[in-house]
Amino acid sequence: MPAHPTSLDIPFAVPQTFRFRMTRDVLGGDSQTLVELLEPSGDSRPRVQIFVDASLPRVDPEFLPRLEHIFEQASDRVLLTEEPRAIGGGEPCKNDPLLVEGLHEHFYRHDLDRRSYIIAIGGGAVLDTVGFAASIAHRGIRLIRIPTTTLAQADSGVGVKTAVNWFAKKNWKGTFAVPWAVINDHHVLRTLPDREFHSGFSEVVKVSLLKRPDVFAEVEQNATRIADRDDAAASQAIHHSVMMHLHHITSGGDPFEMLEARPLDFGHWSAHRLEPMSDYRIHHGEAVAIGVAIDTLYSRNALGFPAADADRVIDCLHRLKLPTGDRLLNDTEALLEGLEEFRQHLGGRLTLTLLEQIGQPVNVHQIDLSAMRDAIHEAAARTKP
Ligand SMILES: NC(=O)c1ccc[n+]([C@@H]2O[C@H](COP(=O)([O-])OP(=O)(O)OC[C@H]3O[C@@H](n4cnc5c(N)ncnc54)[C@H](O)[C@@H]3O)[C@@H](O)[C@H]2O)c1
Ligand SMILES: [Zn+2]
Repeated sequence: MPAHPTSLDIPFAVPQTFRFRMTRDVLGGDSQTLVELLEPSGDSRPRVQIFVDASLPRVDPEFLPRLEHIFEQASDRVLLTEEPRAIGGGEPCKNDPLLVEGLHEHFYRHDLDRRSYIIAIGGGAVLDTVGFAASIAHRGIRLIRIPTTTLAQADSGVGVKTAVNWFAKKNWKGTFAVPWAVINDHHVLRTLPDREFHSGFSEVVKVSLLKRPDVFAEVEQNATRIADRDDAAASQAIHHSVMMHLHHITSGGDPFEMLEARPLDFGHWSAHRLEPMSDYRIHHGEAVAIGVAIDTLYSRNALGFPAADADRVIDCLHRLKLPTGDRLLNDTEALLEGLEEFRQHLGGRLTLTLLEQIGQPVNVHQIDLSAMRDAIHEAAARTKP
């Protein structure tokens, strides 16, 4: 026997906290919620740097002055290293190879360290890019996200993933990184264009189909009100989605996707392929709506998902003013390459989470390509112009 063991496999767990806050107006009456998240760094004031989606000051000239006012008022407890910087939002920021370098220059120039805070305010694309840059600088600077789209509030903002696109592939570079905190603010959504407002609800449909038949039924019932931007109906749907995501991350047992499946990625193998195929003309939430339609119809064709429920899903997406098709679906073989890309992203064998029933997901490893082609063509045929 050797004196010391030569092989040790010691499991360990790292405690984490997901801080989530909801505010009505984080730049106004609720600004304390933000300030209180900035814990002191030893005896000194924590350094804070802010990056803002450029759409926000463009649509609301009061946005930056209100933001800066918060930090003037709190200057005895936090140090804003420079005025907030605007970043052009939307998918182009995830495609810009120089942006992450530029962000690191700023972190470096302003001496940010692991007890500093980066506040990212914007859509999912800005949050993903700033989050990625923050997660690799000093092996992780604290990140506070303030998502400003329905999609980011309902889905990406309350996740633990960051990414930028590389090699013309979605999210090829990225990290798992638990944010310091996430603040979902009601007021910031009001300037969102309708197209973006509608986009986010495809993710709500997606997660409710996987986890909560009752929430799907509620979203289905409220779909027209949500599409018309009824405050109560939209906030309620986003809130359900947040709770399902937080539950999945904190109690689902696999927040960093070590296992075979990516269970929240229903509808995403085709969505992630469609976005670059369209040169990002199709936005993520729209691509997810199309992907959810395809995977629902496939589930009906191949897995016994009830036909009447498939019709409900398609109808619900349409009433949310979301597409279920696009001319690119005619390029079926190119779209099907998304299956292999999806497999490669995680490694191992192909695993798709599909549906046997609403609220009853199933992982499958074999795809009947003919049934999938039929699903793709039917989704395209059923979309509303
Ligand atoms: N990290 C994750 O887990 C995860 C999950 C899902 C999606 N995503 C990513 O999120 C991105 C999509 O995010 P998105 O749907 O939020 O869109 P987006 O970030 O592309 O933003 C859409 C547009 O809305 C603008 N905008 C943002 N907030 C606004 C506001 N309040 N008022 C007016 N305009 C505003 C943006 O500047 C942009 O032009 C995709 O890149 C997707 O891959 C990431
Ligand atoms: Zn998504």
